[in-house]
Amino acid sequence: MGKFNVAVLISGNGSNLQALIDKFASSSLINICCVISNEKEAYGLERARNANINTHFIDHKAHTSREDFEKKLIVCLDKYSPNLIVLAGFMRILSNLFVEEFKGKLINIHPSLLPKYKGLDTHKRVIEAKEQYHGVTVHFVDNTLDGGPICAQSQFKVTTNNIKELEKEIHKLEHELYPAVVNDIATKKIFLSDGEVIRKQ
Ligand code: GRF
Repeated sequence: MGKFNVAVLISGNGSNLQALIDKFASSSLINICCVISNEKEAYGLERARNANINTHFIDHKAHTSREDFEKKLIVCLDKYSPNLIVLAGFMRILSNLFVEEFKGKLINIHPSLLPKYKGLDTHKRVIEAKEQYHGVTVHFVDNTLDGGPICAQSQFKVTTNNIKELEKEIHKLEHELYPAVVNDIATKKIFLSDGEVIRKQ
C-alpha cells in the first residue's frame, strides 16, 4: 500500500514543519511529499531541502487574484496526490475554491485556544486580557480566518507577561500536538464527517 502523503504549506521559519519532518523521518506510514511556500526566503524551504523533500515557491504577488494563486497551488499539489494538506505558518487566507477542493483534507495550527483570539498577535492579546490559560488549536480549515471544526487543543497556565516566553511555551505544545494530530488523521482516528470532527479512541 502507498504511503499517506502529506503536503505542507509554509510562509516562514517552519519550526512546525521541522517537528513533522523529525517525527515522520522514518515512518513507514507517513511521507511528507512536498513543501510549498509563498515566500521565497522562507527558512522552512531550507529545512525541507535539508531533508530531501521537494520544495516549491509560488509567489502570491505574481498572481492577479487570490483564485489564480490558489489554482496554481492546486495544480502543484495535484502532482503529489496528497492525502492531507497541512498549513504550518502559511500566511494566506484561502478562499472557497481551495477549501472545497481539499475538504476534509486541510488542517491548520493556530496559537490560541480557538474560538478565542483568531488572527495575529495572540500572545499579546492573551496577556492584555489577563487570561489564565493559553494554548494551541489544530482545526480543519474553512474559508474564514482561523475557522473550521476543531481536531485538538492543548493548553497551559499563563505564568508570565513576557511575549517571547509565551511564544516558546506555545511552540513546545505545537511541536507535540501537530505531529500527533497528523498521525491520528493518517490512522483514521480523527476524521471529518458531515462537517463534524469524529475522534476514535
Ligand atoms: C505557529 O505559531 C503557528 O501556530 C502559526 O504560525 C506559526 C508558525 O511558526 N500558524 P513556524 O513557521 O512553524 O515556526
